[in-house]
Amino acid sequence: MRIVLLGPPGAGKGTQAKRLAERYGLAIIGTGDIFRDHVARGTPLGVKAKEYMDGGEYVPDEIAVKMVLERLEEPDAREGFILDGFPRTVPQAQALERSLAEAGKPLHAVLNFKTGDAMVVKRLTNRLVCPNCKRPYNIEFKPPRVAGICDVCGHTLQLRSDDDEATILRRLEVYRKETEPLVLYFWERGLLRDIDAEAPEQVVYDRTIEAISDLLDEYA
Ligand code: AP5
Repeated sequence: MRIVLLGPPGAGKGTQAKRLAERYGLAIIGTGDIFRDHVARGTPLGVKAKEYMDGGEYVPDEIAVKMVLERLEEPDAREGFILDGFPRTVPQAQALERSLAEAGKPLHAVLNFKTGDAMVVKRLTNRLVCPNCKRPYNIEFKPPRVAGICDVCGHTLQLRSDDDEATILRRLEVYRKETEPLVLYFWERGLLRDIDAEAPEQVVYDRTIEAISDLLDEYA
């Protein structure tokens, strides 16, 4: 199965990607996580990406597209994937569509997680992330069992450098301008389902499973 998760910062894409990947046995391709790994390792790509990410701007399309299309060639992704945070612009969506069409492996589902700005700010200013397994936690909504420690792999949780309020507001602006047009783009292709993502995590998960199942029925 090939799935795209769309939605503003803090909509819960990363949270749901983990659960969906476990349920369906899919690879997660999270572009934000891949860029952050490059930043942490100080690679040339990481140095370039950091200046955009810290300002709440998108990394240029040609960089994001090349990175994702190469990742899609890896064996685990050939079996199916969840794209978390890609595509984010119309040129990225067109590049993905072309590449998947050439491979004869079109998308099955695009889930559009809808969340209001106030909820986004509340979630992101309270977020902690495991630098190792990338699991997101939340001081208010999903605290770890032991304060500051990942429940699953025991690493010390971190704040993200782009989760201050000013950068969150800029990320929301960029999302509206660059990514929201993709809602219409994928809706016109019959691939999109809206998910009200303001609800608790389990409710969002159940709605997502239902939407995927509907789209798969239509696809069959
Ligand atoms: P990225 O890391 O993808 O950030 P984002 O899109 O801004 O999304 P987030 O990771 O902030 O939020 P999320 O929706 O995954 O929410 P999460 O599940 O963590 O990208 C970062 C940067 O990289 C971009 O700004 C850009 O610079 C660059 N980049 C990435 N992809 C790119 C691309 N394709 N092109 C160009 N540049 C790119 O949840 C958030 C919090 O809420 C957590 O604390 C979680 O526990 C909590 N939570 C989740 N769901 C719920 C719920 N239902 N109820 C209560 N709390 C919840």
